[in-house]
Amino acid sequence: MMQPARIAPSILAADFAHLADDVAKVEPYVELLHIDVMDGHFAPNLSLGIPVIASLRKATSLFFDCHMMTTNPHVYFGPLRAAGVDLVTVHIEAYPDPSRAADQARDAGLAFGLALNPATPFEAVEPFVELADLVLVMSVEPGFGGQSFTYSTLKKVEAARKLIDSRGLSADIEIDGGITTGTARAARDAGVDVFVAGTSVFRTSDPAAAVRDLKASVE
Ligand code: DX5
Ligand code: ZN
Repeated sequence: MMQPARIAPSILAADFAHLADDVAKVEPYVELLHIDVMDGHFAPNLSLGIPVIASLRKATSLFFDCHMMTTNPHVYFGPLRAAGVDLVTVHIEAYPDPSRAADQARDAGLAFGLALNPATPFEAVEPFVELADLVLVMSVEPGFGGQSFTYSTLKKVEAARKLIDSRGLSADIEIDGGITTGTARAARDAGVDVFVAGTSVFRTSDPAAAVRDLKASVE
């Protein structure tokens, strides 16, 4: 069943020199924070790692939704949990069979998400949705904020919604990339529960107003 819409601000678009201040601006209006970890291998960019997450943990009580765009993300599950991560999402492109990674995440005390890139068909994750607390449909290529939303990925959201509902599962559907007040509604109509938004939140003069506007656009 579709859950109440939640906005997950992506700190990739925040000011890393004032990360705690940026997060404090949105904290009263959101339940979770999206944290993109990249190692320059899985995605063609570098972002942040475990020491930054551990520091940020001291500054906020928000749920940490950690999107791993690295090779071998399972190697970091223990340290991520110790740094305060609540849920770790790995890509199906990194683990064509993510069963073991799911077990390793749970053993480390983490909730588990499964992501798929725009070019990856929904069938790739379909057999593993039971293992997941969250299915992340990428609506841009992983690596960079500020890209335009790919509407064709909503077909996969619809397929995920159908499967989750028909099997009575409780996984959330998350969308990531190009979410604005102009694109979020279509994603909600397709069945999205959690909306990741970086640029449209932190690259504005008023991030708090931006998350409120985003939420209003999907309610
Ligand atoms: C891209 C990241 C996204 C990114 C989204 O690889 O996974 O979470 O921060 O940025 P926007 O919202 O600017 O498209
Ligand atoms: Zn992300």
